[in-house]
Amino acid sequence: NLPKRIRIHEVGPRDGLQNEKTAVPTEVKAEFIHRLATAGLTTIEATSFVHPKWVPQLADAETLYPALQDLGHVELPVLVPNERGLQRALALGASRIAVFASATESFAKANLNRTVAESLAMFAPVVARAKESGAHVRGYLSMCFGDPWEGAVPVPQVVSAARSLLDLGCDELSLGDTIGVATPGHVTALLSALNDAGVPTDRIGVHFHDTYGQALSNTLAALQHGVTTVDASAGGLGGCPYAKIATGNLATEDLVWMLQGLGIETGVDLGRLSATSAWMADRLGRPSPSRTVRALTHQ
Ligand code: HMG
Ligand code: MG
Repeated sequence: NLPKRIRIHEVGPRDGLQNEKTAVPTEVKAEFIHRLATAGLTTIEATSFVHPKWVPQLADAETLYPALQDLGHVELPVLVPNERGLQRALALGASRIAVFASATESFAKANLNRTVAESLAMFAPVVARAKESGAHVRGYLSMCFGDPWEGAVPVPQVVSAARSLLDLGCDELSLGDTIGVATPGHVTALLSALNDAGVPTDRIGVHFHDTYGQALSNTLAALQHGVTTVDASAGGLGGCPYAKIATGNLATEDLVWMLQGLGIETGVDLGRLSATSAWMADRLGRPSPSRTVRALTHQ
């Protein structure tokens, strides 16, 4: 009993490009996002309103976001860590924002320069003000399965952080396997523990990185559990600058190939999508890590 339709939350322009060594020109990012929309993706995470010194790759958010105005039919969520970020995003008309918490202290410090409790305190007014302005709020939770400094992360610790994010008022959660160490049994165990703690599956999305080649298997386990929101990155771009061993996300093409085989609808045109990732790979000067992109475009 798999879901009939799933929503792909495309993170390539944000999670993918935040980790590129070379700065991608704003026009190339805008074209990438337009091409992703033309390929049928309806939720495309566009950029982050974070400190430009922390993530210089996304320092052009103020120029990029207005260049997407014509994509009225596409949801364009953006990351904001604090009130300053929220102000910047709302000033440009953003209506979907995401805060990003950590299940571990080490990553909260590395990524946000805060303890877990301090970061939740930083998010509280952000979520409240975003909700007041009518925005939809996603709460990312990183290091849900393992942490590069702390090792395995206990399920109850993740459940408690997830509950805190929802208690702040987040509409949905995205469970991040930031460094790609999860395996399917672990995924099922965490989802069950969240359900036991009163978190319904329809408020949970999954966000797998593919470091150990498990992202697709983990996604299938989540779908079997009833999850219908899956994060993926076109061409498998990505990583996190503050968690060095992280590689790219689950490639959107690998996901769509599997879903097509399972008869699950996504609305995505796989040919157009892989052509877009091949085009982006050319801009970045290296082949896409996605097996499906390589198979379909002979890269
Ligand atoms: P901080 O250094 O503690 O900042 O960084 P602060 O609050 O002390 O402020 C210092 C200065 O920064 C001030 O300026 C602020 O105005 C300015 P000053 O008064 O000194 O001139 N400032 C800002 N400027 C522009 N926009 C802002 C902003 N905020 C402060 N939003 C901070 C704290 C949270 C800002 C910093 O740590 C930060 O920006 N971190 C972002 C890191 C990041 O983006 N990481 C990647 C995303 S998370 C991820 O990839 C994981 C995910 O994919 C899920 C998964 O895979 O697990 C989502
Ligand atoms: Mg990520």
